[in-house]
Amino acid sequence: MKAILYTSPGDPSVLRVGDAPTPMPRPGEIRLRIRATALNRADCSQRRGHYPPPPGASEILGLECAGEVETVGEGVARWRVGDRAMALLAGGGYAEYAVVPEGHAMPIPDGLSFEEAAAIPEAFLTASQALFALGGLQPDGVALVHAGASGVGTAAVQLARWQGARVFATASAGKHALVEALGATRAIDYRTEDFAAVVQAETDGHGADVIVDPIGASYAIRNLSSIAVDGRWIVLATMGGAVVDGLDLRRMMARRATLTASTLRNRSDAYKTTLVRRFAAECLPSFVQPGGHGEVPRLLRPVIDAVVGWDEVADAHRRMEANQTAGKIVMRVG
Ligand SMILES: NC(=O)c1ccc[n+]([C@@H]2O[C@H](COP(=O)([O-])OP(=O)(O)OC[C@H]3O[C@@H](n4cnc5c(N)ncnc54)[C@H](OP(=O)(O)O)[C@@H]3O)[C@@H](O)[C@H]2O)c1
Repeated sequence: MKAILYTSPGDPSVLRVGDAPTPMPRPGEIRLRIRATALNRADCSQRRGHYPPPPGASEILGLECAGEVETVGEGVARWRVGDRAMALLAGGGYAEYAVVPEGHAMPIPDGLSFEEAAAIPEAFLTASQALFALGGLQPDGVALVHAGASGVGTAAVQLARWQGARVFATASAGKHALVEALGATRAIDYRTEDFAAVVQAETDGHGADVIVDPIGASYAIRNLSSIAVDGRWIVLATMGGAVVDGLDLRRMMARRATLTASTLRNRSDAYKTTLVRRFAAECLPSFVQPGGHGEVPRLLRPVIDAVVGWDEVADAHRRMEANQTAGKIVMRVG
């Protein structure tokens, strides 16, 4: 099969289309003919040699895809050849074919294209895990979503609002219109505003019940000033640094705050299967008809910055690393 490969880690110019063995499905797995994949920051880290795939996963980049079921492995019950499916992958999305445990794939809702579907799994599953499974966000809660216009952020803002919660989202100013259109109560320009002061003022001192945080160190002290009593602070990445100076644990105790750090990629197959099943049952119907618990029922949608071809992958990586994207870059495969 054709795939996007690189021989040694480096800048985006190392990426090129080449030949790779077509993966074979094992019992319980399906093989997808991929029509579209979507880019993630993790792809850039892996390309630079900093984020190796978990043991047993494909070395090829790509954490999600959409396409058709091409082969079903022994014992697969839920899928038939020809079904339209989108899947969470531990690797291998930048290729014509990928194999995946049957429980990590979801049916593509009628009316969604392969390009739209490819932008759903990694962002929405990460966001739903952070907000609901780890954060326990309630319909009357308050969420603070950092990097609100990122792939994960655009999903988290929508899901929090879909749940009925109030949502504050940090983003650079040029991305505020998007974030507010997705349902944020208030977008916060982290370059000119103190997000902790805004959240405290707008919630009458309650603070954020759940903080979705891919930034890390540079926001840590202000997160503690933003968090509600019994709040959950979910760290997903360290785009703003990993080592926190001056973190006062007494302030965490005073708020009875819970700090959880999580990565989805290295979770067990069983964990991912449960996450996918719950998301498919509870959230997927809202991609085609308004749902959720909010006063205004909301439609969920993947936010797509651009759809590119294989030959544009290096530029797409550059734009993502330069923080020039809002939502997801989708790549057509083949
Ligand atoms: N733990 C997990 O399970 C998991 C799963 C998926 C993704 N992630 C991680 O989550 C992060 C977001 O991923 P993504 O693919 O959604 O990203 P993305 O779409 O590339 O968006 C990232 C955005 O974050 C903002 N940003 C970057 N550096 C920043 C900084 N130092 N301070 C403040 N804002 C900053 C920029 O937007 P502005 O213009 O607003 O600055 C940038 O466009 C990545 O680090 C990724 O690896 C973790």
